[in-house]
Amino acid sequence: METPMSLFPILFLFHAFLLASTQPSAQQGDALIRATCKSTNNFTLCVSTLQSDPRSFKADVKGLAHITLEIVLSKAKQTLTAIGNLFKNTMDPVLFRKYGTCILQYNRTVSSTLPQAIKALETNDNGASKQGAQDAATSVQTCGVQSASNEFPVSTQNKLVQDLALVAKSIISTLG
Ligand SMILES: *[C@@H]1O[C@H](CO)[C@@H](O)[C@H](O)[C@H]1NC(C)=O
Ligand SMILES: *[C@@H]1O[C@H](CO)[C@@H](O)[C@H](O)[C@H]1NC(C)=O
Repeated sequence: METPMSLFPILFLFHAFLLASTQPSAQQGDALIRATCKSTNNFTLCVSTLQSDPRSFKADVKGLAHITLEIVLSKAKQTLTAIGNLFKNTMDPVLFRKYGTCILQYNRTVSSTLPQAIKALETNDNGASKQGAQDAATSVQTCGVQSASNEFPVSTQNKLVQDLALVAKSIISTLG
């Protein structure tokens, strides 16, 4: 079927209208990020983390939860690598054992707990996803409390992973 030429401007306007109404502006996106982060216990961390990923400005709340979990996973992987290097380079048998325990915790978090939490979210199993985020925070916390910060050079990074996992958990909680 042929479209009469005279319809094109109307179709164009209609298309523009659809785009405008289905794609939230960056401003609306930022408002949703802030509203969502209000429900977490670390607003500043939540907002700065989500704003660091351009996808956040076009995401719904489930999308924001997904992005946060992905960022937790990527930060946890970086921390695991850093602890792995500490482990390889220490001569101290006590630290060697502590780092070894941390590596086991992080390895489980990175290879199983967080990927499963992400899958659970994707299949709308919000309960399992929330539990996964909590488990990740707990594992990582265990790793931090066993070492004084002067003997654990990645304690800030470790705390960040823990805090972010709890932010993810709070966002997932708002999904019901
Ligand atoms: C990490 O976990 C994976 C999968 O569970 C396992 O194959 C690997 O041996 C583990 N690595 C360490 C260092 O524990
Ligand atoms: C928020 O998280 C950051 C990063 O781990 C931490 O430095 C800060 O103390 C946390 N703030 C609160 C209120 O928990």
